[in-house]
Amino acid sequence: MAIRFFGLIPAAGFGARMGADIPKQYLRLGSRTLLEHSVDALMSDPRVQQVLIVVAATDVHACGLSFPSGARLAKVGGASRAESVRNGLRALAEELEADDRVLVHDAARPCLAAQDLSTLIDTVGTQDAGGLLAAPLSDTVKRVDRMDVSETVERAGLWRAQTPQLFPFGILLRALESVQDLDAITDEASAVERLGLRPRIVSAIGANLKLTTPADWPLAEALLKASGRW
Ligand code: CTP
Ligand code: MG
Repeated sequence: MAIRFFGLIPAAGFGARMGADIPKQYLRLGSRTLLEHSVDALMSDPRVQQVLIVVAATDVHACGLSFPSGARLAKVGGASRAESVRNGLRALAEELEADDRVLVHDAARPCLAAQDLSTLIDTVGTQDAGGLLAAPLSDTVKRVDRMDVSETVERAGLWRAQTPQLFPFGILLRALESVQDLDAITDEASAVERLGLRPRIVSAIGANLKLTTPADWPLAEALLKASGRW
C-alpha cells in the first residue's frame, strides 16, 4: 500500500520575539495570515492530503481563518514547541498507523517553496530515519561570551535545520514520548536522533525564512511576492 503523508503544524506559540499584541502566526502577510500561508505551502504537494494545526487551548484567532478542506484544528498546544507537536501526534494516534509519515512544519515559515517540499518527500519519504530541509551556514561562526568572541567555530559540516521535518509516525511519537526535557528539544530531528537514528538532510533551495522578529517582515514580503503567493 502507498505510504500516507500527514501534515502537523505547531501554531501554539506567543511569538514573544516578534513583540506584536497577537501571536505572530495570526499577523497578515498580504491577503492572508502567516498560518494560512504556511498551511497552504504544506499542502502544495498533493501527497499531503490532511493537516492538523495545533493551537493553544485558549486560542481565539484560528477558528476565524479559512483553511483548505483537509486541514483541521486541535486545541492541544503545550508549553513548548515539542510539547505542542507531541500533543498533536497523540491526537492523531487513533487514525494513524506507525508507518504513516508525518511532516511537521512551523506556522512561522510561510515561504516554504513547493519544490523543496516535493524534494523532501521524494528523498526521505520512505526512509525510516526520516529527514529535514536544511541549509548550510554561509557566515563565519563565532562562539560568544558576554559579547566577547571566545572562539571561531569550524563551519564545515554545520547546517541550519528548517521545517518540514518528515518522519514515520510511530518513530516520531516514540521519540517525543521518551523526551523528559521537552524545552530542550527545538526540532523533531533532535528527538529522533536521541533514539540513535540519523535523519537525512535535504538541502533547501528556497529561503524558507522563519519569521522571528519584526526585521524579518520585508524579506518575507519580498519572497512571497516573488513566488506569486502574496
Ligand atoms: N510553537 C508551538 N507551541 C509552543 C511554542 C511554539 O506550537 N509552546 C510553535 C510556534 O507557534 C511556531 C513554531 O512552534 O509555529 C516555531 O516556534 P517559534 O518560531 O519559536 O515561535 P514562538 O515560540 O511563537 O516565538 P518566540 O520563541 O519568539 O516566542
Ligand atoms: Mg519559540
